[in-house]
Amino acid sequence: MTEQSKRIAVTGGAGYIGSHTTVELLEAGFEVLIIDSFANAEDDVPDRVAAIVGRGAEVERLDITDGPALGRALAAFKPDAVIHFAGLKAVGEAVAEPLDYYRVNVGGSVTLFREMAETGCNRLVFSSSATVYGDPEQVPIPEGHPLRPTNPYGQSKRMVEQIVEDWGRANPALAAVNLRYFNPAGAHPSARIGEAPQGVPNNLMPYLTQVAVGWREKLSVFGDDYDTPDGTGVRDYIHVVDLAEAHLAALALTAAGPGVHAINVGTGQGYSVLDMVRAFETASGQQIPYVITDRRPGDIATSLADPSLAEQVLKWRARRGLDEMCQDAWAWQRGRNR
Ligand code: NAD
Ligand code: WQD
Repeated sequence: MTEQSKRIAVTGGAGYIGSHTTVELLEAGFEVLIIDSFANAEDDVPDRVAAIVGRGAEVERLDITDGPALGRALAAFKPDAVIHFAGLKAVGEAVAEPLDYYRVNVGGSVTLFREMAETGCNRLVFSSSATVYGDPEQVPIPEGHPLRPTNPYGQSKRMVEQIVEDWGRANPALAAVNLRYFNPAGAHPSARIGEAPQGVPNNLMPYLTQVAVGWREKLSVFGDDYDTPDGTGVRDYIHVVDLAEAHLAALALTAAGPGVHAINVGTGQGYSVLDMVRAFETASGQQIPYVITDRRPGDIATSLADPSLAEQVLKWRARRGLDEMCQDAWAWQRGRNR
């Protein structure tokens, strides 16, 4: 790697997945600039990242919709590549406030890409989501599956993927990877960083951890009448450190030459809600009280990645299993203050 190819700007680098990816980048010898508004991140996350690695990232506190500020930050840092995590991600909120979601997720991405073009940066890794597939007609889901997102959050991800593809057609030097994450879970094994949702968690794993630690009374299991082995929803949970490593593999792909790729990041292995409850009980030694409630509107029965393209093209596969996800999430949660 040349000095120049070691400089990576990470939007949303103080968030859940961004902070874990920043750790892996720093440990691999990259110089990192975190660009984050801290709208959904704690102020001391960059310090905690530095404590894990023994050296830190530069930090710019700014909103990606602020083009001039973003332009100044990129011009000063001169990134060789950008990993773009920053955005809003709550499905229910997106249904209620679609304009905010399109402004930040789509508008903010376009602003970022324009500023990257201004500074001559042609390498991008973008956080897309398995939610772009909508209700799948086949599982495991290959990348060629039709994209039919069912809510404004998923639409915003599909739109940004389209924008990246169109940008690539207009700019043959562009090297970009749209990573479609399945269900990130777990935390860094140091227990210094992890998922820290504000308010009531929307997702299963942080809700489970908060029940186990006694912050919430019981888990509501959203439906047990799906067409799955035990009737509860089946998902492809992936350890956040495996996911972070996939970003380094995607960066390497962008260094290998131009082109725009869309690649699933999952394990191909599915677990039901009740599997997750049992695994978390074992990892934590705590009983998890739960009740079966109605289905959550918009939920699907099963979502599973076909991870073969990632293995072929990124030479990457997930290495950590469910027990490790639960143990690391539990260690992180136990160390947190309310
Ligand atoms: P997160 O909320 O923890 O991280 C997002 C970060 O972006 C936060 O630090 C937040 O402060 C920052 N941010 C938000 N709006 C910003 C803005 N306008 N300007 C600058 N910074 C801003 O979320 P995460 O789980 O780490 O997700 C990261 C990315 O991965 C998101 O784009 C999300 O949509 C995508 N994704 C997440 C999941 C998941 O289940 N966690 C699944 C698929 C895709
Ligand atoms: C997993 C399973 C629920 C909470 C969502 C977004 C998706 C993506 C990841 C970003 C489902 C069940 C959950 C609870 C429950 N994010 N559940 N009780 O629904 O696969 O995906 O997050 O891109 O866009 O839609 O993940 O963790 O919310 O749910 O029973 O309190 O757990 O019904 O079967 P999901 P999840």
